[in-house]
Amino acid sequence: MKRFSSIIIVFFLLVSCQTQRVQKTEASKEYDNAAVITAHPLASSVGVDILKKGGNAIDAAIAVKFALAVVYPNAGNIGGGGFLIYRGKDGEKAALDFREKAPALAHRDMYLDSAGNAITRLSLDGHLATGVPGTVAGMQEAHKKYGSLSWQELLAPAIELANTGFKITALQAKEFNNYQKRFKQFSTPGAAIIRDQPWKEGDLFTQTHLANTLGLIAKNGRDGFYKGSVADDIVAEMKRGKGLISHDDLENYQAIWRKPIVGDYKNYTIISMPPSSSGGAALLALLQSVEQYPLSQWGFQSDSTIRAMVEAERRIYADRATHLGDPDFYDVPIEYLTNKKLNQERMSKVSLEKATPSSAVSAAKFPGYESEETTHFSIVDKDGNAVSLTTTLNGSYGSGVWVDGAGFLLNNEMDDFSAKPGSPNIYGLLGGKANSIQPGKRMLSAMTPTIIEEDGKLKMVIGTPGGSTIITSVFQGILNTLEFGMSAQESVSAPRFHHQWQPDRIDVETGALSDDIRKSLIEDGYTIHKRGSIGRMENIIILPNGKRQAGADPRGDDTAAGF
Ligand code: DON
Repeated sequence: MKRFSSIIIVFFLLVSCQTQRVQKTEASKEYDNAAVITAHPLASSVGVDILKKGGNAIDAAIAVKFALAVVYPNAGNIGGGGFLIYRGKDGEKAALDFREKAPALAHRDMYLDSAGNAITRLSLDGHLATGVPGTVAGMQEAHKKYGSLSWQELLAPAIELANTGFKITALQAKEFNNYQKRFKQFSTPGAAIIRDQPWKEGDLFTQTHLANTLGLIAKNGRDGFYKGSVADDIVAEMKRGKGLISHDDLENYQAIWRKPIVGDYKNYTIISMPPSSSGGAALLALLQSVEQYPLSQWGFQSDSTIRAMVEAERRIYADRATHLGDPDFYDVPIEYLTNKKLNQERMSKVSLEKATPSSAVSAAKFPGYESEETTHFSIVDKDGNAVSLTTTLNGSYGSGVWVDGAGFLLNNEMDDFSAKPGSPNIYGLLGGKANSIQPGKRMLSAMTPTIIEEDGKLKMVIGTPGGSTIITSVFQGILNTLEFGMSAQESVSAPRFHHQWQPDRIDVETGALSDDIRKSLIEDGYTIHKRGSIGRMENIIILPNGKRQAGADPRGDDTAAGF
C-alpha cells in the first residue's frame, strides 16, 4: 500500500483540496443565545419565534415538528414517526421513540408471494406499506415531560401556515411535480398536493383539511388524532386501499421513553438513539472502531482515513443486519455491540492495505445470542437545553397515500422491516429474525439523532436523513468536527461517502475522492460507486465562547436561524 510511501503527496493533495473546499463553503451562522436548523426556512422561523417567546428547546421542537408537517410534506409529518434525543442544560439525557409500529394484522410473510419471494413494491406503495403513525403521541409525550408553553400555543403556527398557505420553494415545486403520478395513483383527487397544472416556485400551498386536523390535535391532544374523525378518516383510507390499520391500532399506539445510548469517544460523550433505531449503537461502534487511528494526522478523506472508516462500516453494518431490531420483541445484544474493547480488537486485526471483501465479513458472534425521505432538525435554546430530532415517512412523501378528509400523507415505513432474510429493502439493507415483521413491532431504523458533550459540557447537536446512509453521514459529520477541525457549515457541506457491508462498494458523492485516492482504493480491491447527494445534515456546535455555530446542509432548502 502506498499509505506511508506517498504520505507527502497525500498531505499536499489534502491541503489543497481542503483549502478549496473551505473557500467554496458558505460561512457558518453564529448566534449568541439560541439556534434552530431545519429543512425549511419557515419551520426554522417557527422554532425561533417559540424560543423568543420564552419556550424551551422541547417547545420549539414540537412547534417545528408540526410546522414541518405543513411546509415539508415529503418528510415532515403527522402520518409517520421518528426519534428525539434530549439533553437538558444540567446534563439530563433522554431518548424518545415515536417510531411507527406494524398493525395488529401484520404478519411475517405479508410481503411474500406464494413461492416465498419478496414482492418489493408491496411494502413501499400505497396503504399496505403504512405502519401505525407515532408522531402525535411522541410530541404529546415530549410536551408532558418537558414542555413549558401551552400545547395550543405550539400548534398555532402550524395551523396558521396550513390555513393561510405558504409560498413553495423552487425545489418543492420540482418535487411536487415529480411525484404527481404517484399521488394520483394512491390518493383521492381531493388531496391538496394534487394539481393538473404544474406547480411553480412561489405558488401558494394551502391545506385546509390539515389545518382542521391540527386544530383537533390542538384541542384534544393525541385523542384528536388517534380517536374521532381523524382516526375514522385513516381507517376509511385503509378500507379503500386494502391497508391494515384499525381503530384499535391507533388507540393502542404509545411513544416510549428509552435509555439513550451513551458512550465515550476520547474526551467526548456520545448521546444517541437506542433501538428501535440502529443509529446510536452503530454510530458508537463506528467511533469506537476508529478511535485507535490517528485520523486527524491522516487528514480529512485521506487514503488511510477512508480505508479505516470503510472497513469499520462494513463490519458494523454486518452486525446491524443480524443483531438489531425492536428491543420490545428481540433481545438486542446492545452491551456487546457497543463494547469498545471488542470493537477495537476486531479492527486491530483488519488490514488497511487491501479491501476485505464483504463476503468474508459476517456479523460478530456474541455468547448467548442467535446469530430518500426523512428530515432532521437540531435546536439549542438560550439556557443550553438541546434537541436532536429525526423524523420520517420513509420514502419521499411516504406511501403516496393522502388521507382523504384529514389532509396528510401516510408513511411507507413497513419497508424498513426485513420482508425476508437476505432480501434487501429499498436502501439495500439486509436483515433477519431480529427485524422480521410481527404485529405491534417497530421496524428497525437507521435514524441517528445525536448530541455530544465535551468534558461533560454541550458540544454538538447533529443528525441527518438519508436511509441507510444516515449512520455513516453522522459518523463523518462528527469526525469532520472533532478530528478535522471543521466549522459547523464545513462539516455538513463536505462531500460524503458510505459503505454498508452489502452491496460491497463505497458510495461517493461528487468531490468526495481525489483522483489519486480513487485509483489507490481501486487498485487495492475497493469498488467505487458514484451517486447523487447523500443526506441533509444539520450541525450546531457550541463554541468555547458559548456562541451557537450553525451549519445547515446546502443540499436542500435547509436553513439556520437564531438570535
Ligand atoms: O428509519 C429509517 O432508517 C428510514 N426509514 C429512513 C428513511 C430516510 O432517511 C429517507 N431519506 N432520505
